Amino acid sequence: MQPGVDSFTDRAFAAAEAFARQNKSFTVRRDAPAFSQGCSHRVVRAWWRGEPVVFKYYAYGNDDCRLREANALRHFTETPCLPRLVDDRLERALIMTEIDGEPLTAYESAGNATTLSSIWRQIGGLIAHMSRIPLSDGDLDAAHRLAADDMACAWNAHAAQPDFGTPVFERSLRLQEKHMREGMAMPLCLCDRDLNPGNVLSNGSKLSGVVDLESCRPGTIAEQAGIALYAVAAYPFANASPELLWNAFCDGWSEVTMMPSLQAVRVQCHRKVWATIHRDGVIRTDAPAPDWYVAPDSARIEEILRRCDALMGDN
Ligand SMILES: Nc1ncnc2c1ncn2[C@@H]1O[C@H](COP(=O)(O)OP(=O)(O)O)[C@@H](O)[C@H]1O
Ligand SMILES: [Mg+2]
Repeated sequence: MQPGVDSFTDRAFAAAEAFARQNKSFTVRRDAPAFSQGCSHRVVRAWWRGEPVVFKYYAYGNDDCRLREANALRHFTETPCLPRLVDDRLERALIMTEIDGEPLTAYESAGNATTLSSIWRQIGGLIAHMSRIPLSDGDLDAAHRLAADDMACAWNAHAAQPDFGTPVFERSLRLQEKHMREGMAMPLCLCDRDLNPGNVLSNGSKLSGVVDLESCRPGTIAEQAGIALYAVAAYPFANASPELLWNAFCDGWSEVTMMPSLQAVRVQCHRKVWATIHRDGVIRTDAPAPDWYVAPDSARIEEILRRCDALMGDN
């Protein structure tokens, strides 16, 4: 995307240019297209003291996303393959180093099984490594609060939306209630809740990194593994089965640390599936859904749950 594409992109470029006027070591790369993956924010490419960086402009909402992403970049500062925070003093933006590579979405229809399995193995290693960086005990309350809130929002969505009120969905909620404890009793970590192929960058079969850490929140290693399972189940690749990719992920993870029990991972994957239905808490009993909320297709969601259960050996 170049300036002129939409007003958010224009604002992002204007903010980056304003910063460049005050900082001579920062230059906007107008010749390079700006990145845009989802619909959320705008990412402008730039140079900082001769190094490629990105200027991520937070187009919507309050400051939460920017603060969470800055916090996560600090937390993972020693971890290879993640961007380094360059400047966090801007009002609506962060500047971070650029990870060289293209998003895994480019492999959806064309990637071959060997390349994809190698990349997912490296993702397993990286995510396991990230999940081993401890959080303080003070984050335990936050992790429990988030889990309880997710559960309440999921029940709300189940009650409010007939498509998600069927027995299949009720079973998923009961499963979570029954086994949630197990996943929550594991080591705490800062969970990347938005691990998806658009946020994973690679150079050929070499993983170059993971970006978009604005959804990182306190959780447990079972939650992090469950989110990875969700990524495998929800974003299928034409030439590589979910089994192949999940096994590759587990191999990479197991080189770094032990994989939590299948039941705990499965339950946390169900939890993540529900988070996509209630959109991280927008469906609540005490407030109407915002205008922008569009319920996901329930048949597709059922299919994701089925894939998750099949991968965990339970049809
Ligand atoms: N540090 C980075 N290095 C390289 N590319 C990046 C970086 N940050 C973001 N991108 C690119 O910009 C896209 C959108 O940025 P992202 O942080 O994912 O924002 P959004 O929240 O809108 O998805 C990413 O999918 C990726 O292609
Ligand atoms: Mg993204």
